[in-house]
Amino acid sequence: MTKYLLELLKKYGIDPNSLKRKIENIKNIYSDSELDKILIGESYFFRDREMWLALKEYLKRFRNRKIDFLSLGCSKGEEVYSFCFIAEELGLEYNAYGIDASIERIKQAREGIYDFWSIRKLTISELEKYFVRVNDKWKVKDTYRKKVAFETGNILELSMDDKFDIIMLRKVLIYFEPLSIEMVLNKVANILRKDGVLILGKGEYYQQLESFFEPLKFKNSIYWSKKRFSDISKKRSTHSKSSTIKIKRTKVADSENKKVKNFQPLSLEFVENLIENGKYEEALKAIDKLLEDNPISYIVWKYKAIAEMNLKKLDEAKNSLEKAVFLNPEDYELWYLDELLRK
Ligand SMILES: C[S@@+](CC[C@H](N)C(=O)[O-])C[C@H]1O[C@@H](n2cnc3c(N)ncnc32)[C@H](O)[C@@H]1O
Repeated sequence: MTKYLLELLKKYGIDPNSLKRKIENIKNIYSDSELDKILIGESYFFRDREMWLALKEYLKRFRNRKIDFLSLGCSKGEEVYSFCFIAEELGLEYNAYGIDASIERIKQAREGIYDFWSIRKLTISELEKYFVRVNDKWKVKDTYRKKVAFETGNILELSMDDKFDIIMLRKVLIYFEPLSIEMVLNKVANILRKDGVLILGKGEYYQQLESFFEPLKFKNSIYWSKKRFSDISKKRSTHSKSSTIKIKRTKVADSENKKVKNFQPLSLEFVENLIENGKYEEALKAIDKLLEDNPISYIVWKYKAIAEMNLKKLDEAKNSLEKAVFLNPEDYELWYLDELLRK
């Protein structure tokens, strides 16, 4: 395998072993624009019909607000238009967006013209409803093309300010190497709205999901909702009218404390317990000691921010959060805390 090809695969997160047979049959690759030769673009309208039936039910909750939909690894746009068909039928307000690494596929998605392979699972009445015939091909009707946008892009380099209610990432990560899967999932968590959901392909599961998402069963589908690091208790009791930012144990903290038994005073676990029990002042004292030993631990700065937020020391919390973000901008939970602070 040429060095260039290996570098190209690495750039797009692809594990060479997963595509070995395909790669062996490829003679030459001269540029990124020829990526299609490597990346598998198999897709068709309403792929996994059951998932789409469930989604139609799920979408009904958006009757009173606009929905932002994103398909990552959208191939020629089949998934994006399938979404538009349903959204139009339900009379929803929406924007639908698709990103794929392949320039050629994105060009086709923008044209919205398909051959038999993409429409093979549609019924005759669906074909007539959604498409117009152009020679031996089918073109998506204009009604369904008004609110779509397609872009070429590498999802490993994804950087967007927009937020989405539904992100589909189906049959894309199956060719990725583990580290790239984690990077992509972290990025996805960053652009998913607080109450948004990630939808993977049928049967897809990655251990890395657990770091960022929680499974949410809806009908026969599994959606992945964003894990909340903190959680504002909205209960208004006579005892406490203030909201509390709670802590969720992080995997890093657990692993860093494997050796520690009985919550030793200078451990992350000890700090976590103090915060969980509402002993924020004590937690801050322990945190200051931890920071003396390790001033560049982003988790400790994050916990400091949480304790300070709960004590309503908002300026201090802002400062701690800035440090945590500086040390690890990839942790989306920090951005969530930042959002809370701004409110
Ligand atoms: C098998 S298709 C899946 C299409 C669609 N999501 C579906 O389930 O029907 C995978 C798509 O992901 C795209 N892809 C693979 N790696 C990518 C990357 N790093 N960035 C963007 N797109 C990528 C490929 O070009 C291909 O079109």
